[in-house]
Amino acid sequence: FKWIEAANYGELSKIAATIFIDQLKKDSSTVFGMATGGTPEGFYKKLVAAYKAGEVSFKQAKSFNLDEYIGINPANEASYHYYMDYNLFNHIDMKRENIYLPAGNKSNLEKAAAEYDALINAAGNIDIQLLGIGVNGHIGFNEPGTPFDLGTNIVELAQSTREANQVYFDSIDDVPTHAITMGIKTILSSKKIVLLISGASKQEAFERLRSGVVTEDFPASALHNHPDVTVIYTDVK
Ligand code: F6R
Repeated sequence: FKWIEAANYGELSKIAATIFIDQLKKDSSTVFGMATGGTPEGFYKKLVAAYKAGEVSFKQAKSFNLDEYIGINPANEASYHYYMDYNLFNHIDMKRENIYLPAGNKSNLEKAAAEYDALINAAGNIDIQLLGIGVNGHIGFNEPGTPFDLGTNIVELAQSTREANQVYFDSIDDVPTHAITMGIKTILSSKKIVLLISGASKQEAFERLRSGVVTEDFPASALHNHPDVTVIYTDVK
């Protein structure tokens, strides 16, 4: 693990964006793994700014998102499809056919999950994967207790996850109960991983990760089994 403490949220966003931009400069056909949530919003603003400044082009790049809610339409503002368009894809030159998110609105979700892993595989696997962490240590939507050897799969969201994400919905009853997520195995197949941790609500998760104990009760601890993880953190106390 490489641990980088950022002075503040703006610095965290900048450090993370620089890593992704440098990767794209090195390899214009980079396969990105993207995350949603509050933490990477500043990071996406920096990527968009770099594109608008003519510093980089995403024309040959590809992107695979970690997860999506089940039973939510991509046009719904709380969907991760919407989030990604709003925060990134509407503002850069990545080709639509190179943008992938798991489909949470298909009738055969198991099939959609297996196909997602096959697509990632066919793209040569993810070169650089962005992650956030849940208050309970989830990565993607892999909640505590998830076996580390699963590919993309359908999961039931933990109550703490639904509560944390309630801000994006009218009420807790509107927060979906299930999601489709890259599995831990899918995440670990990425060549490089960058994990962002910001804010006091993540203090416990941060410390647990830092302790180095690997257990399925704490999904992010699976990252200790990966050879190239950078953790960028700020304001965790
Ligand atoms: C998002 C995702 C989640 C979030 C995590 C932290 O695609 O997979 O694991 O990264 O829930 O979310 P925020 O950043 O909103 O605290």
